[in-house]
Amino acid sequence: MATDVHRPVTPAVPTGSAVHVEGLTRSFDGRAVIDDLRLDVRPGEFVALLGRSGCGKSTLLRILAGLDRDIEGTVLVPRRKAVAFQSPRLMPWKKVWRNVLLGLPGKPERDVAERALDEVGLSHRASAWPKTLSGGEAQRASLARALVREPDLLLLDEPFGALDALTRIKAQRLVGELWQRRGCAVLLVTHDVEEAVLLADRVLVMDGGVIAYETRVDLERPRDLTDPRFAELRAELLRRLGVDDTAPSEAEKQPAA
Ligand SMILES: Nc1ncnc2c1ncn2[C@@H]1O[C@H](COP(=O)(O)OP(=O)(O)O)[C@@H](O)[C@H]1O
Ligand SMILES: [Mg+2]
Repeated sequence: MATDVHRPVTPAVPTGSAVHVEGLTRSFDGRAVIDDLRLDVRPGEFVALLGRSGCGKSTLLRILAGLDRDIEGTVLVPRRKAVAFQSPRLMPWKKVWRNVLLGLPGKPERDVAERALDEVGLSHRASAWPKTLSGGEAQRASLARALVREPDLLLLDEPFGALDALTRIKAQRLVGELWQRRGCAVLLVTHDVEEAVLLADRVLVMDGGVIAYETRVDLERPRDLTDPRFAELRAELLRRLGVDDTAPSEAEKQPAA
């Protein structure tokens, strides 16, 4: 696997690693949003990243994608990587299949785009204009644009955040299938604890500029939301995020005698 090195401190890529981050610091206006962070992801591993809004998840993802190089520390990532964001970011003046090929080197043929669109169940919309797509379709087009790069590392920043509940479930299932078929490493940023436990091999919680907590998800796939171990993991992660799901809500509290 070819590796991109951003600002190497230790140039050696540890074997058995798709992502190796060490001593990573990123500051904005003198404030360290990421502060001496360490992270390793194995090839083919599915990792979910949770954390409060504003804790630096997108900043970390952009650094891994090579979109932000104003950093200190070591960041080793595969050369073949792709990213999809919450908003699909399709160019309105290009048909769907051309959007999928956007930015690819060489002059790839339309059938390259169609194969990727087929993988996300969207080949029938190849000739459509982006503005005629539903939210779920646009997000699948964005996924196809990532897949066509044949990434060893797929970076997803809240890709289902703007979808309605049913479309979201379908999109989650699709990502799970694509990951199993492709075997690439995935880093999924999400604010949805259930989504993280449903999809990931390992769930990380970011806080204070570092990975403050992590847990393996040793549950067989497809995962069963009614499994007590699922509920246990979910509750523990909510606690780590500072949300106590066992505390009674105001409405449930007994009025004081
Ligand atoms: N380009 C930037 N300039 C200044 N501050 C930024 C910039 N990008 C992110 N930040 C700040 O860094 C913090 C983390 O942002 P972000 O990574 O987007 O959080 P998250 O994705 O976890 O919600 C926030 O306080 C945000 O305002
Ligand atoms: Mg974000």
